[in-house]
Amino acid sequence: MPASPCVFLTGATGFVGGTVLACLSSSHPNIKIKALIRQEAVAKELQSLHPNLTPIIGDLSSLALLTSTASDAGFVIHAAGENIPAVCALIDGLTSHDNTESEATLPLPRLISLTGPRSLINLSKPITGNLATDSRPWSDVTDADKILNVPEDRIHAGADQAILTHSVAQCVGTMLVSPGQLWGRGKGHVKKESNSALYYKMVKSRGRAFVIGEGTATWSWTSIGDLGQAIVFLMEQALLRGSEQRAQLGVNHEGYYFVRTGDLSMIDRARAVSERLGLGEVESVSVDEAKKMHPFGAVMWGCGERTRADKLAQLGWMPNDTDWRELMQEAGGERA
Ligand SMILES: NC(=O)c1ccc[n+]([C@@H]2O[C@H](COP(=O)([O-])OP(=O)(O)OC[C@H]3O[C@@H](n4cnc5c(N)ncnc54)[C@H](OP(=O)(O)O)[C@@H]3O)[C@@H](O)[C@H]2O)c1
Repeated sequence: MPASPCVFLTGATGFVGGTVLACLSSSHPNIKIKALIRQEAVAKELQSLHPNLTPIIGDLSSLALLTSTASDAGFVIHAAGENIPAVCALIDGLTSHDNTESEATLPLPRLISLTGPRSLINLSKPITGNLATDSRPWSDVTDADKILNVPEDRIHAGADQAILTHSVAQCVGTMLVSPGQLWGRGKGHVKKESNSALYYKMVKSRGRAFVIGEGTATWSWTSIGDLGQAIVFLMEQALLRGSEQRAQLGVNHEGYYFVRTGDLSMIDRARAVSERLGLGEVESVSVDEAKKMHPFGAVMWGCGERTRADKLAQLGWMPNDTDWRELMQEAGGERA
């Protein structure tokens, strides 16, 4: 392990990566952070806010740059979206390190890559907007194998599986971190809102909150701040603690981590925003109407899967922000 740890972060200007940067810098000001940033001007701004940050100007298509920067850093957090060649290039860079501890059977954890639980949605069944009668929460402990073996044509699934296959082949320990709906205002400097801002905007422009069907479809959620803290927690266990704690971290096929605080149905969310904006009854729309509103509308507003973050709980991590209404209304609350 290097004397002064260095973390390579991608997506530092994004909703999730910006929050990770803020959480990491404030809790570990001595950790050096290298951040992949596309624009020089933004890089300068972030550097002025984070003295521990060295911008790496480049794009995810600069594979040789990703490999060499990951190799120098030794630990990587990838929050720049789904991109299999880029993540494989990061993994290649991490192979230059000693990746096993004596007597260890699993490779050392060196990469956190963001994914999402939309891989759990079975889109071969019709979207109804309702909670399926056979639906049950997915545990990242007891359902780990099933989660990583869903058909690879599902959202995120092909990328998750390709990343883990490459990690195993290269003997690099990867943790896939999978939050559901994210509530609250991003802690980063650049992008502070995400999908929940889009629904709010739609509701405002229609003058009515809406759901598909009865809106009993339910997603698990966590706050963006807690997601940032959970990622920093996993990095700490991987990089800053002794071999005993490191050994407790699952990686690769034992390395899929949900981050979850609670569950929220579409109808409860719609009622809350309707009440806040004084819009009256929630309207039920069809799948086709949702698709007209947004090409991805039916999936965003008509599906839901509940998750259980049992792995993080076993490691002793708990979320702090437990009130979704408060997070919805935080700082002006342009989200729902
Ligand atoms: N937001 C959510 O609700 C949510 C929920 C579950 C999982 N996730 C997962 O979290 C990850 C991050 O999502 P996000 O919401 O933070 O996305 P985001 O706000 O759109 O941020 C994307 C980040 O990636 C960077 N990026 C994109 N393409 C790039 C490229 N070709 N080269 C270099 N940088 C590039 C962007 O840089 P620029 O600023 O230069 O564009 C930005 O920093 C994704 O994998 C997503 O699936 C997000």
